Amino acid sequence: MAVAYRGRRCFRTIRAPLSLERECLLKRPRASARRVHIPTFFDLDRELFNAAWIPIAHESELAAPGQYCALDFFGERIVVVRGADFAVRGFLDRCVHRATPLTEGAGGALRDLCFTCPYHGLKFDLAGRADPRSAPWVGVKEGSHLAPVRVYTFMSFVWFCLSPTTPDLPAWMGAPPQWLLRASLHALRLGRRRVFEAAANWKLLVQNFQESHHFSTVHPSLEARTTWRRSTSSVVGDKWFGGTMELAVDAETVSETGKLDGRPPVAHADDLRCVHDALLFPAWLTSLQPDYFLSYRLIPKAIDKTTIMTDIYFHTASRADDMSPSDVYTFWDRTNAEDRAICERQQRGVSQPSFTTGFYAPVEDGQHAFDQRVAAYYLERDGDDV
Ligand code: FES
Ligand SMILES: [Fe+2]
Repeated sequence: MAVAYRGRRCFRTIRAPLSLERECLLKRPRASARRVHIPTFFDLDRELFNAAWIPIAHESELAAPGQYCALDFFGERIVVVRGADFAVRGFLDRCVHRATPLTEGAGGALRDLCFTCPYHGLKFDLAGRADPRSAPWVGVKEGSHLAPVRVYTFMSFVWFCLSPTTPDLPAWMGAPPQWLLRASLHALRLGRRRVFEAAANWKLLVQNFQESHHFSTVHPSLEARTTWRRSTSSVVGDKWFGGTMELAVDAETVSETGKLDGRPPVAHADDLRCVHDALLFPAWLTSLQPDYFLSYRLIPKAIDKTTIMTDIYFHTASRADDMSPSDVYTFWDRTNAEDRAICERQQRGVSQPSFTTGFYAPVEDGQHAFDQRVAAYYLERDGDDV
């Protein structure tokens, strides 16, 4: 156990160093590596996520001035809003007076194009500046404003980062996979957003996303559309992990019917016979289907609890009735529930006190690479006297 000091705060953190033995096990080639039960240090996870760029909204969700999206993130609440000048800005969502959050829920449109504190009525414009005249009884100082958060718009998504030292988004993420760049991300429209919690560590959920050979046992209906035997995985650069799954010959897309039903493509014409998955480290899971785009944002809540934000986007040219296709939603409701159940079950196994290591199956190169990335971060931070 180490004691960490930060500013005036002093707190104890559980930072038993990963043993050299474990480090060596992970650094072996996949075939001889032993799966390491990487101890979860929640404060290290918080640092890892705080140093990352996190997607918070698709641009289309912030189309007009006053439209905002918000996210609860490791105890902070982040809000991004489209300004009157059409710039997107990010703030910590708490009033300068007594810290009351100014917004509720995941997003919407601000009335009167300003934030209004629900406690004592102080207003802030879309650039975060307090208006002292809006609530003179509060006595806010001229020039007070909401605490800014870094934001960046890239690949048609709006991202935020809580660290001032992380490089700008394009440099931080490196080159995205080609199939993602050539998809019609600019033309996406949110069909449905669902938020739920899984009683599992975030890394188990990432690893589950990375492999397909659980399809035949866990997801018979997904196996029928994209068999794991025709799937691949790859590592693209420093931050991206990818995978492809070939569609069955009788399937046009992944859904209950397997049919496009006239929905316009989101994937490029060259990419219509495969589903393409990409994980952006640490935990943005994306899956490009021919006619829709799946986004899973994982936010760790505890050692064994993760919030999962599931977004399904369709092409903006879709007809209104194509925006809620029950054959797509029913398919993924079931598949996501199956994943959640198996990961929660695995969590109960890795939580057993006597558990130490597993091993990597021959098709788990991607998981091995991900584990190495996480372990390297933990080891690097473990040595810091932060
Ligand atoms: S807490 Fe916001 S005006 Fe008082
Ligand atoms: Fe799965």
